[in-house]
Amino acid sequence: MSEFRGKRIVLGVTGGVAAYKAAELVRLLVKAGAEVDVAQTAAGAQFVGAATFQALTGRRVWHGLWDERMDSGMAHIDLTRGAAALLVAPATADFLAKLAHGLADDLLSTLCLARDCPLLVAPAMNRQMWENPATQRNIAQLRLDGVSILGPAYGEQACGELGDGRMLEAGELFDDLYASLQAKPFAGKHVLLTAGPTFEALDPVRGLTNSSSGKMGFALARACVDAGAEVTLIAGPVSLATPRGVRRVDVQTALQMRAAVMQSLPGQNVFIGVAAVADYRPRQTAPHKIKKGPGSLTLELEANPDILAEVAALPDAPFCVGFAAESRDLAAGAEGKRVAKKLALVVGNLVQDGLCGDTNAVTLFDAAGAHGLPLADKSEVARGIVAHIVALLGGQHVQH
Ligand code: CTP
Repeated sequence: MSEFRGKRIVLGVTGGVAAYKAAELVRLLVKAGAEVDVAQTAAGAQFVGAATFQALTGRRVWHGLWDERMDSGMAHIDLTRGAAALLVAPATADFLAKLAHGLADDLLSTLCLARDCPLLVAPAMNRQMWENPATQRNIAQLRLDGVSILGPAYGEQACGELGDGRMLEAGELFDDLYASLQAKPFAGKHVLLTAGPTFEALDPVRGLTNSSSGKMGFALARACVDAGAEVTLIAGPVSLATPRGVRRVDVQTALQMRAAVMQSLPGQNVFIGVAAVADYRPRQTAPHKIKKGPGSLTLELEANPDILAEVAALPDAPFCVGFAAESRDLAAGAEGKRVAKKLALVVGNLVQDGLCGDTNAVTLFDAAGAHGLPLADKSEVARGIVAHIVALLGGQHVQH
């Protein structure tokens, strides 16, 4: 994880129970390479102590307007200079009201006014406070002022009630913050992906499948969303969380995957087939468990449709990208698939480099030749693939 390498984030913590999630967020950000400066309001310091944030960030926590640590004596201005973003999480109803009116009577509210970096807020409050017209008015005003509002979520609240107002989880805030800092070359584009294995049932408990984890496809879906695309992900049976902002359709079999793809296809600009689709399915699925008997068992298989080839052959086909996992002769296998299926791009990898793990080393094959990407985390590889697709869509030749 290196999403925030070289970036400094200022995290404002106001007085809400959800401050404990801010501590977890700091941990995630630091792990991803960020430098994090925490500024707490007086109420915020009542919930999670400065020592916790200090230990997690390795830096002193900021509290008052009159802090003498900044040489200029201008902590209210200097702290956000050069920062990638200022995120207030949790942001109480009271703090949002202050922000909407431009009040600046403590360090954090002053930092929010005197900044040249993006401001994001993660509301955290009781559902009635959230639904109150005053809060809604303030939120609408903050949106107009260009402030990004992250959440809130629906769920159980500290007061025991159920409703809107719960702060997003640390991982969700991490993803939203990261996405907000990315360029949006895919804005206005629609991307459809398949991911994971398929499962072809032999009987109610057994089936044909493969060891695809779905991680590469899910990482790509996320990279496409981060780049500004509207993303639909048709997923085979995997137990991965849906990336934020992605529309997900779960399927089991290749036939279901094909039907879901065809249904979602109208209006798509890009189709990326990442799924390891079973090439064959049992000719028959037994309605009851197949009992063992003497001797061997013969299964009769029939071919599944090639979803990617079918999409690429359509007269109004989107920009089509395929994956080729080979155990040897990568270039010949991948380039062969690109030509045979009439694809703009094939992402090739050797199975020993990518299957199931968290890293991958891929080579991109397009009409201009082969372009290797270095071995990296799948999320970083996904960003490299998205950059390549964006360049190809823009008509550029790409050198990596
Ligand atoms: N694909 C598909 N539908 C299928 C099979 C594959 O959409 N029924 C897509 C995959 O998502 C991937 C690419 O096609 O993008 C893989 O090509 P394929 O020729 O199927 O790879 P293998 O099955 O590994 O082929 P082979 O066994 O011939 O190497």
